[in-house]
Amino acid sequence: MNIYDLPLRPRRNRRTEAIRSLVREHGVLASDLIQPMFICEGKNQREPIASMPGISRLSMDLAVEECKILSDLGVNAAALFPAISDSKKDKLAKESKNPNGLLQNAIQAIKSAVPGFCVITDVAMDPYSSDGHDGFVNEDGEIVNDETLPILASMAVAQARAGADIVAPSDMMDGRVSVIREALDENGFTNVGILAYAAKYASSFYGPFRDALSSAPKSGDKKTYQMDPGNVREALHEVELDINEGADIVMVKPGLPYLDVLRAVAETSSVPVAVYNVSGEYAMLRAASERGWIDYKKAVLETLLGFKRAGADMILTYHAREAAEWMGGK
Ligand code: PBG
Repeated sequence: MNIYDLPLRPRRNRRTEAIRSLVREHGVLASDLIQPMFICEGKNQREPIASMPGISRLSMDLAVEECKILSDLGVNAAALFPAISDSKKDKLAKESKNPNGLLQNAIQAIKSAVPGFCVITDVAMDPYSSDGHDGFVNEDGEIVNDETLPILASMAVAQARAGADIVAPSDMMDGRVSVIREALDENGFTNVGILAYAAKYASSFYGPFRDALSSAPKSGDKKTYQMDPGNVREALHEVELDINEGADIVMVKPGLPYLDVLRAVAETSSVPVAVYNVSGEYAMLRAASERGWIDYKKAVLETLLGFKRAGADMILTYHAREAAEWMGGK
């Protein structure tokens, strides 16, 4: 039927799945995904997080098992976050450099059980801080930049010493990438990479994560260090600084409300680009799915594809394991 004289018919390329698969520009692989993982004390502990159905805090032994499963599914990396008990938190986050601390022990256990698996660790004070801030809080309640830097540097060195492949500063202090790079190099960890949370926004989508770690700020908010949601030029500045300071990978966070920032960063960055599909984004899809309002599996895969299309090379996502299972493993 050619009722109208229409030589150009884009629908021809959508006619069958075989053709659609040929013309598809972007796709998601299990190897693009990084599973964020919450680590808790104890043995054989799996503590569900109410605001993140399907995600639990795992004790070290179960975290090791989880990494083996991820690796078999083709997910080659996890980003670890420790849930530190309140009694171990203080103003200086001293527990963060304990060579036998929870995180350091978990890194060692995972690296010795699954040596090829990439362990990424978080560098920021908040899981360890009695103030719940990513930086050091002085007597005036100010989150002070330069006093925070050596704390972050020794935290990163402790993680590298335990076997971390990549350290990921998520704190948004100025100059932290260069201070961490210098400290790693001085201690012989020239092969340990830095994934910089370069453009991290002061977002309302981190709530479930703070539930998971009991790490919400005790007072104030994070707006003096995390970025203002209205800005994109500033994101490019932050990315440029982090690359100049030695970042091996830069990240945009959160993901879904910031796809334009991700695209802008992907177009200008000279190093690979990561995106963090954060806890609140995960919770939204879970909640809508529990109500039967969306097809969860399709919505997750479409979301992950959106990050790739926007320019992400890799995606930190709580959906990593399930998505890899749906993709059929390696
Ligand atoms: C803190 C940190 C946060 C996340 C990762 N690292 C929370 C915050 O900045 O308050 C959030 C991740 C998520 O919501 O999934 N250094």
